[in-house]
Amino acid sequence: MPSFFQLTSISTARDGISDADCLAIQRKSSIYNSLIDITGLLLFNSRRFVQVLEGREDVVRDLYARISSDPRHHGIVILGEEHVAERQFGQWAMAFDEGNGDSNGDGRNLPKKVDALLDKAGPSTRALFQTSARLYRRQLFLD
Ligand SMILES: Cc1cc2nc3c(=O)[nH]c(=O)nc-3n(C[C@H](O)[C@H](O)[C@H](O)COP(=O)(O)O)c2cc1C
Repeated sequence: MPSFFQLTSISTARDGISDADCLAIQRKSSIYNSLIDITGLLLFNSRRFVQVLEGREDVVRDLYARISSDPRHHGIVILGEEHVAERQFGQWAMAFDEGNGDSNGDGRNLPKKVDALLDKAGPSTRALFQTSARLYRRQLFLD
């Protein structure tokens, strides 16, 4: 039975990151990740990125190394590494609240977007993403 490697990480966005930055990451990643057979989810809640990458272990590690040196975020911490019998995500996707830089964006739709992408995710992955999605911009500035 094939085993997939799954790496979960969290990081902090560079100050002033914009919708355009997120769209650029989304566009690039969805093309590249499908080429290298990586599935997973990238959540951006206007302050932090939470990401699961799953696929072949060497491919995941190479991609993670590249992402780690991206100046659009810092303070990257690996939350988990595990081998899973089946992928928990059917595709690679990114969820973020467009317009979070203005007063209309409060992340209210984010938990719903994330929920729709959690496919077969286990309880801990689900809880991590759902909790992160609920932490809105204002609350995050208090931590
Ligand atoms: C939080 C975060 C997550 C990222 N995730 C991916 C990803 O899953 N796949 C990807 O190809 N690039 C991802 N990127 C972008 C890469 O860091 C990198 O910019 C991209 O692969 C293009 O590399 P290049 O500039 O060397 O062409 C991510 C960037 C950030 C800030």
